[in-house]
Amino acid sequence: MARMAKEKSIYSCSECGASSPKWLGKCPGCGAWNTLVETLAEPGGTGKNRFQSLARSQPVATLSEIEASDVARTPTGIAELDRVLGGGIVEGGVVLIGGDPGIGKSTLLLQALDALARQMKALYVTGEESGAQVALRSRRLGLEASQVRVLAEIQLERILATLESEAPAVCVIDSIQTLYSEQLSSAPGSVAQVRECAAHLTRTAKASGTTVILVGHVTKDGQLAGPRVLEHIVDTVLYFEGDTHSSFRLVRAIKNRFGAVNEIGVFAMTERGLKGVANPSAIFLSTHGEPVPGACVLVTLEGTRPLLVEVQALVDGGGPSPRRLSVGLERDRLAMLLAVLHRHAGIATFDQDVFVNAVGGVRISEPAADLAVMLAIQGSLRARPLPRGFFAFGEVGLAGEVRPAPRGQERLKEAAKLGFSVAVVPQANVPKKPIEGLTIHAVERVEQAIELVRNL
Ligand code: TYD
Ligand code: MG
Repeated sequence: MARMAKEKSIYSCSECGASSPKWLGKCPGCGAWNTLVETLAEPGGTGKNRFQSLARSQPVATLSEIEASDVARTPTGIAELDRVLGGGIVEGGVVLIGGDPGIGKSTLLLQALDALARQMKALYVTGEESGAQVALRSRRLGLEASQVRVLAEIQLERILATLESEAPAVCVIDSIQTLYSEQLSSAPGSVAQVRECAAHLTRTAKASGTTVILVGHVTKDGQLAGPRVLEHIVDTVLYFEGDTHSSFRLVRAIKNRFGAVNEIGVFAMTERGLKGVANPSAIFLSTHGEPVPGACVLVTLEGTRPLLVEVQALVDGGGPSPRRLSVGLERDRLAMLLAVLHRHAGIATFDQDVFVNAVGGVRISEPAADLAVMLAIQGSLRARPLPRGFFAFGEVGLAGEVRPAPRGQERLKEAAKLGFSVAVVPQANVPKKPIEGLTIHAVERVEQAIELVRNL
């Protein structure tokens, strides 16, 4: 049996695609090191592996003659989740939900499956917990009469057989890292196993119309084998964000063949599971009695809803090799901003440690955060707080220019609605009509912005 298993897998190079029957440190094809990964050998025979065929082949058609039908979506009943999914789950769609351990993936999916089970057949495959543990969680969530079917299994072939016999309309695999296929000899969680299992499940989803939701763990830097290698296989990729120590969680769509990307769903973890937060714009602000130095609020707009997020910076005397650390913001971007600050505004930090943090565990990837990060840094350096009700946004370029952020009006209005009163924004984002209660200072360059806040 073991020998048979060996014969089915080969090692192929992730760089050039060359293959070898056994593992080698150096690729025989392109000479690259450590690029051989175990994969399944191409099936030689006929129909032996029915999961190999995606769907029956279709005749070639002219594009204009193909009917453009939108996919039908079934709402999960959890509004914030439906928002990121683009309206609900899609027949035959494959969704990957990634996130740190303990952030709430299993909780959210159990809640969603329970709601879906009221209208369709739902299967929950658990590889991490026993059926009893899942039951315990469902009681805690108050899902006493749940119709969700549960299978505690980690072997891919048995899961595929169950999918065939049960024929659920939706199936959750919790988690993809615990599965293994007996056709590969590598351990569960290895790149080869994760990729192979996901590929099989994807084919099954497409062929049977079952919606498959894969759970994947990622570490803080997204390094671990797993979710990242799956992103191109699946239709939708959602990532959980948020600090496990605070109760708020964000679910962000990174990729979505059936909806918008960068859409976010906001939840609060409560004693009885995750509850959607319908009006989330102010939850990422910390509550200072008085304004503190090194803090600056920005309005970020990823997806359709503006969010106000507080960015904090701490600049402190460093050693011979000062540190630049950022949580929730890109570190390379921080290094760039420090260089711009130095060159264009004369603010030097090369002998200082610089720490930057986005409050609440939210991750900000849009460049519109630049200006707020800079103002927080200079605030910490000068130990002077920005005025009460202050916020800023705008992208900063290497030449020291401040570029407009998309949909500036919406950002300004949201902040005004929440009672913010003073803003520093890019010139091009200044609205034609003044916004009530808001004093807007327009800037075109970094040095101008720094000079402006010094006098506020
Ligand atoms: P979980 O869904 O198990 O995380 P993941 O599957 O992403 O690893 O979430 C576990 C955490 O959530 C755990 O710390 C307990 C907490 N929790 C609640 O606060 N309330 C609840 O109702 C439940 C079910 C879990
Ligand atoms: Mg879990």
